[in-house]
Formats: sequence, structure tokens, C-alpha cells
Amino acid sequence: MQHANSKNQWALITGALGGIGQALVHEFVNSGYSVIATDVKHSDHKADGVNFLALDLDKFVLDEAYAMEFYQKVNLITEGSGISCLINNAAIQILADSRAITREQWNLSFNVNLSAPFFLSQLFIKDLERNFGSIVNISSIHATQTKKQFVAYATTKAALSAMTRNMVLDIGDKVRINAIEPAAIATAMLKAGFAGKEQQYKKLEAFHPLGRVGTPQEIAKLALFLSSDEAGFVQGACISASGGIQGCLSDPS
Ligand SMILES: NC(=O)c1ccc[n+]([C@@H]2O[C@H](COP(=O)([O-])OP(=O)(O)OC[C@H]3O[C@@H](n4cnc5c(N)ncnc54)[C@H](O)[C@@H]3O)[C@@H](O)[C@H]2O)c1
Repeated sequence: MQHANSKNQWALITGALGGIGQALVHEFVNSGYSVIATDVKHSDHKADGVNFLALDLDKFVLDEAYAMEFYQKVNLITEGSGISCLINNAAIQILADSRAITREQWNLSFNVNLSAPFFLSQLFIKDLERNFGSIVNISSIHATQTKKQFVAYATTKAALSAMTRNMVLDIGDKVRINAIEPAAIATAMLKAGFAGKEQQYKKLEAFHPLGRVGTPQEIAKLALFLSSDEAGFVQGACISASGGIQGCLSDPS
């Protein structure tokens, strides 16, 4: 089995304008990939090696014509060579209790966090197979360890990790498919959530055996590694990137 190397290869990254997405774009471009960066938000930002395409993943799941249009746009950009890496990074986190969550919130969570990664993988499968490419799904520690109010988010992430393991059985002879399950990552949003609560942020950091939360760059570098030849035998893996918090039991002590 051959694998993609970064030279003259196209990587498609969803949620590219988010905290981890920006780091992914940066790392992939820096290591020689040409990047198709997508997000529901619009961007006029121009950078060498980056083509931005607007993409609403909810619409992508619900509207096949919109999905095909997106495929054609990608095909034009890659001049028919197709993508070698798909990084399913976009997600929404709707916090709501099991008693109160609405159908709309539930379905939106599933469309963006789970169905879009699946149907994007399906849409690009021939290109990925031809290029002996790779898919990296950005899952979450919530796939296995979770909290109150996270029922929709955690369920989609558990399913995304399960999907990662399962798709390998169908297409794993030519395409490597892996997932990353990060714990807290210091994105602008995470930091903003702790603005004015420095003591709580310090506690969060101290709760991790490594004594800190992760950085977007650490997740992006892991995704880059998983997409590379060096990870050639890593297949169907859901890799924890949690600073050790995954092993912590939070019993009252
Ligand atoms: N930040 C963390 O602590 C953390 C921890 C574990 C896992 N993750 C996962 O990492 C990934 C990136 O998270 P982040 O922290 O950068 O989040 P973020 O909110 O900063 O970025 C998510 C991006 O997805 C985009 N998006 C939302 N809805 C969309 C839609 N309908 N169509 C297309 N794009 C849409 C947003 O516009 C945003 O740019 C997510 O899958 C998230 O679940 C993050």
C-alpha cells in the first residue's frame, strides 16, 4: 500500500476558520500541502497554498445538488487530481440537557459532526483511493468521557470514532482513516470562556497530569503525522490527545 506524501498533494480541511482549523491549515501548508480550506463562515483572507471555499456542512448533508456542486469546485481547483487528505475538523457543540434538547439541535449536531464527515468521505472516496490518501476525523474525549449537557455533542463524537473504526473495514485497503480525540485545547474560544476566571483556568490546567491544556498546534501536528507516510501502519485508530486527563477518575475525594 502506498501513501500520500505532502508534495503536490491536496488536503481538504473543514472548519478551517476555527481555533484548531487555523492551526491545521498552517501546519499542512507549511509542510508542503496545497490546502482547500472550508468553513460556513466566509473568509477573504489570502495566503500562499490556500484556496478558501465556503461550505455549510448542514446544507451539504441535506442537499445532494449542493454537495455535487462542492465536489465540482474542488475538482476544478485540483485540476482533476483530487484530494489526498480529508480532515474532518468542523463541529458544533450545542449544550443542552436530555430533557430539553430540541429535534433541531439534535439533528444539526448530527448533520455537522457526524453525517458531514461520513458523506464527505463518501463523496471523495474515489479520489482518496486513487491517491492512496488519508482521512483524519477530529473527534473528542467526549467520545468516551463526558459531562452533563453534552448529550448531543458526546453522542456524535462517540459515533464519529465508531465510524472511523468501521469505515476501515470497507475502504481500508487504500485509504487510511484515523481519529484524534482531544481533551481541552487552548483555542481562543476556550480562553474566552475562562476570561476573568483565572483561578478556574489554573484548576483546569492542574487537573491534567501534564499540568496544562493542549494547543491547537499539537492537534494539527498529530493530524499531519497521521496523514503522512510515517503513520503508514496506523489504521482505524482513535488516538487520545488529552494530556493524560483521559485516565483521571474524578470521584469526590
Ligand atoms: N477546542 C477544544 O478544546 C476541542 C476539544 C476536543 C475536540 N475538539 C474538536 O476539534 C474540532 C475543532 O474545534 P475548535 O475548538 O477549533 O472549534 P471552533 O468552534 O473554533 O471551530 C469550528 C469551526 O467549524 C465551523 N462550522 C460550524 N458549523 C459549521 C457548518 N454548518 N458548516 C461548516 N463549518 C461549520 C465553524 O464556523 C468554526 O470555524 C471540532 O471537531 C471539535 O469538536 C475541540
